[in-house]
Amino acid sequence: MTFSRELIERFARTQRVAVLTGAGVSAESGVPTFREAQTGWWAQFRPEELATPTAFRRNPKLVWAWYVWRRELVAKAEPNAAHRALVELEQRVPGFTLITQNVDGLHQRAGSRDVIELHGNIARTKCFDEDVVIERWDETGDVPPRCPRCGGLLRPDVVWFEESLPADALARAFKCSAACDLFVCVGTSTVVQPAAELPFHALAQGATVVEINPGATPLTRRAHHVLAGAAGDVLPALLRVLPKVP
Ligand code: OAD
Repeated sequence: MTFSRELIERFARTQRVAVLTGAGVSAESGVPTFREAQTGWWAQFRPEELATPTAFRRNPKLVWAWYVWRRELVAKAEPNAAHRALVELEQRVPGFTLITQNVDGLHQRAGSRDVIELHGNIARTKCFDEDVVIERWDETGDVPPRCPRCGGLLRPDVVWFEESLPADALARAFKCSAACDLFVCVGTSTVVQPAAELPFHALAQGATVVEINPGATPLTRRAHHVLAGAAGDVLPALLRVLPKVP
């Protein structure tokens, strides 16, 4: 893979980099993305049909089971070359911020230290009624399990459609996107708001925007550099041509 001199120089000169990742960055770890041809659960349901409080109220067993299946899948998955390259990029470029829509925790498992999680984390559980994180509960056979504090239903601590994103994380993400001079968008379809707004926000503030994605998205025509390929190929190849930190 070849990269333009302009792109390499842009990376070499950058003072602040923001990276936004989506499901595509975990695809090579075997974690299915949301909006591509799917098998299993994904073939039967669209995320918008299961990942909502309305769906949970209607059929909590089904939604809980979907997340148990996904949690197990994620627990067995390993970070891939793209996650590892982003750890190295954090060490190589100044003012680096990693923002993710992923709930799989693979960036942290790869070694990224400061990750802004916009959509929560599938490994955490919270009380549906009280909205507080619950660490332990009795396995009584109830599906979903019951909150040990109030007896309400437990649910994953992820953001569902119809719900707000964590205010602190979102504010930080917008601030970093406005302040960066280089914004890199990796493996996201750039359609789910408000995360999808971040690269456009960076563009409006004058940042150079790079997209890494084998497919086209609403950002593709606006990005300054489009690196069409799998994140696990493109990111390590990019690191190989970037100047080493002395
Ligand atoms: P999507 O499934 O919408 O998009 C995945 C993107 O990854 C697509 O644009 C693919 O072309 C790209 N892709 C696939 N394989 C790739 C690879 N190996 N390397 C790089 N890119 C690759 O996933 P997201 O954009 O993350 O929200 O979806 C955003 C949100 O919608 C998710 O966080 C989730 C979902 O519903 C919630 O659950 C709230």
